[in-house]
Amino acid sequence: MQERVLRDTLLRQPLGLPMDEESLDWEDGTRHFGLFDEAGQLAAYVLASPLPDGSVRLRQMAVSPERQSSGLGRRLMLEAEAELRRSGVKALSLHARDTAIGFYEKLGYSRIGDIYLELGIPHQLMGKE
Ligand SMILES: CC(C)(COP(=O)(O)OP(=O)(O)OC[C@H]1O[C@@H](n2cnc3c(N)ncnc32)[C@H](O)[C@@H]1OP(=O)(O)O)[C@@H](O)C(=O)NCCC(=O)NCCS
Repeated sequence: MQERVLRDTLLRQPLGLPMDEESLDWEDGTRHFGLFDEAGQLAAYVLASPLPDGSVRLRQMAVSPERQSSGLGRRLMLEAEAELRRSGVKALSLHARDTAIGFYEKLGYSRIGDIYLELGIPHQLMGKE
């Protein structure tokens, strides 16, 4: 359950949220992508959930703090995108924290609509065909 630790440490604890007990992550069709280091430690993670219209929502993107800014986030996103494309997925969307919007823009994601609040922090819906 390395992914739970990474997600809780990076995405939930900074917001004062309790440990993630959601079970939705494991619903049919949800796919988990990860990059592991030589020691088998999870270094980067993202989750892909199918939406009813056939597109996919990317969620819970996180790179371990000591490995951020070394290209791993981009590498994981590109690997996940390529794999999803091979599966026939034609459109991706995500809810970006405002602090990460620039990261997704560099990967070709466009802003959709206005900034809104989610979990008490500003987010931006973004998409990529
Ligand atoms: C945001 C995050 C996923 C980026 O991963 P990363 O491995 O650090 O990013 P990379 O090193 O692959 O960066 C790829 C490019 O995006 C840029 N970038 C990275 N993080 C950025 C950010 N927060 N804002 C703007 N640009 C960013 C890099 O400068 C790099 O640009 P370049 O192509 O000009 O060199 C990572 O920092 C993270 O896990 N942050 C904490 C959790 C979080 O905020 N997750 C996103 C929730 S929506």
